[in-house]
Amino acid sequence: MRVTDTSDVWWKTAVVYCLDVETFLDWDGDGTGDFAGLVQRIDYLADLGVTCLWLMPFYPTGDRDDGYDITDFYGVDARLGTHGDVVELIRTARDRGMRVIADLVVNHTSDKHPWFKASRSSTDSPYRDFYIWRADAPPDTSAEVVFPDAEDSIWQLDERTGEFYLHRFYRYQPDLNIVNPAVRDEIAKVMGFWLELGLSGFRVDAVPFLLETQENTQQDKATFPDPHAYLRALRSFVGRRTGDGILLGEVNLPHEEQAAFFGGGDGDELTMQFDFIGMQNLYLAMARGDAAPLAAALRARPVISPDCQWATFVRNHDELTLDKLSDSERQEVFAAFGPQETMQVFGRGLRRRLPPMLDGDPRRLRMVYSLLFALPGTPVLFYGEEIGMGENLAVEGRMAVRTPMQWSADTNGGFSTARPNRLPAPVVEGGYSPAHVNVSDQRSDPDSLLAFVTLLIQRYRECPELGRGECTILEQPHAQVLAMLSTWDDGSLLTVHNLGAERCTVPVQLDGCDATSCLTDLLVQGNVPLDDGGRAEVVLEGYGHRWLRVTAADSRRLV
Ligand code: GLC
Repeated sequence: MRVTDTSDVWWKTAVVYCLDVETFLDWDGDGTGDFAGLVQRIDYLADLGVTCLWLMPFYPTGDRDDGYDITDFYGVDARLGTHGDVVELIRTARDRGMRVIADLVVNHTSDKHPWFKASRSSTDSPYRDFYIWRADAPPDTSAEVVFPDAEDSIWQLDERTGEFYLHRFYRYQPDLNIVNPAVRDEIAKVMGFWLELGLSGFRVDAVPFLLETQENTQQDKATFPDPHAYLRALRSFVGRRTGDGILLGEVNLPHEEQAAFFGGGDGDELTMQFDFIGMQNLYLAMARGDAAPLAAALRARPVISPDCQWATFVRNHDELTLDKLSDSERQEVFAAFGPQETMQVFGRGLRRRLPPMLDGDPRRLRMVYSLLFALPGTPVLFYGEEIGMGENLAVEGRMAVRTPMQWSADTNGGFSTARPNRLPAPVVEGGYSPAHVNVSDQRSDPDSLLAFVTLLIQRYRECPELGRGECTILEQPHAQVLAMLSTWDDGSLLTVHNLGAERCTVPVQLDGCDATSCLTDLLVQGNVPLDDGGRAEVVLEGYGHRWLRVTAADSRRLV
């Protein structure tokens, strides 16, 4: 195995950690998290084993969509810090072996962005075509809105010029017009700027909407016939500027449509994409106690180029979207994990974090995180998952899962010394409050979730077969079990997860193995013998999980 290969293509075996500076740690006591706070916690993140930070938007903002409505792509929200603080953070992270990427939100701007202010001022404005306008009354687009609780059309009438502008998301987020070459130049400059300051790439927001030109005029479209050529251009731009930078795209589409966003067999568009389909089917599998939906989703992943990668995740900052499940499947997941209407949002998702959905069952929780790290791909954590944070349903909409990070049992969970009413969101209350769930307590507890996730990360990083290898789902008789064999070069890892509550014994057959090899447990002490035919029996507790390295007699790998 060439371990050296893992350095250039670092993102194939990375551990990504998403956080919002605003809610991570407030260092100056004004109630808002800041870069000065985040930099204080770089060593915490390094100890956890994170290799790539994903910063949610930290730019100046109209602050109506938690920073996803940007007023200046080149700026830093003054409440969070300065450009100097951003550079210090990137530099400190790099010293600890951590790269930093950030949200690139260029499908739209805030309606307070100077480009939009100019654009709406007159039909003759040089910025008019930075956005997409129509003079005639739009048809009914209520079925196309992303946020049905707030919008009923993707077009908004602007009184000043009597025309309508396109907004795929909220009406205060007008869509940029990438058919206009001047807009494309501006986006490249923005990317170049942040890359020059040391970012290692971007999490690209809403990629399908960014590329779609459906609402442009025929004439416009003729000048820009292949939007994917633009995505290719962005990938090669990042490559030219950085050598090893990435584009991690948000593309919540069926697997077969995602293939095009990787650039098909050429693999020259997005470097990575979140596996939304795998994530949704993971929840369906958990709800049923049956691994089949997840196994089917993994098998249905399109084959991707070696220059691309899947990003796996259990939760993110948005609703846990179940939009790609059938209505009845979605109802199954709602019934299992969010039966009350207040736990649901947009009719398609859950606004909860994982531990409360699992009623805090530590066996299940650990099994799910073990599974996350065992899935083929690059795992992405959302801040607080490592300690088992819960949500605060008293906070509106998707913000329920974006409450302050819980550092200690102190006031405000150690997040801030300000008065609680000055925080960006109230801390979690009840059984998941900082009194019960916090970093400080778990750091000194070897049996804590934090210790377990740290171990998982350590093992994931030692097993490049997970991020880089081929994964085969093994046949075995238990519906509730997912057995995967991940192989890269001469290394193989068998991972076995029990999504059901009953103990079981899983017979597996490993081709090419005989009694001279054995299976060595990587998460606990122990091993499982193989017989001459490469057969083994793996015992799993209810909601059990095991990582077993296939070790040949002459193997020199550390176990
Ligand atoms: C993406 C983000 C979401 C945001 C939306 C509009 O889906 O993940 O948080 O509201 O884009 O920018």
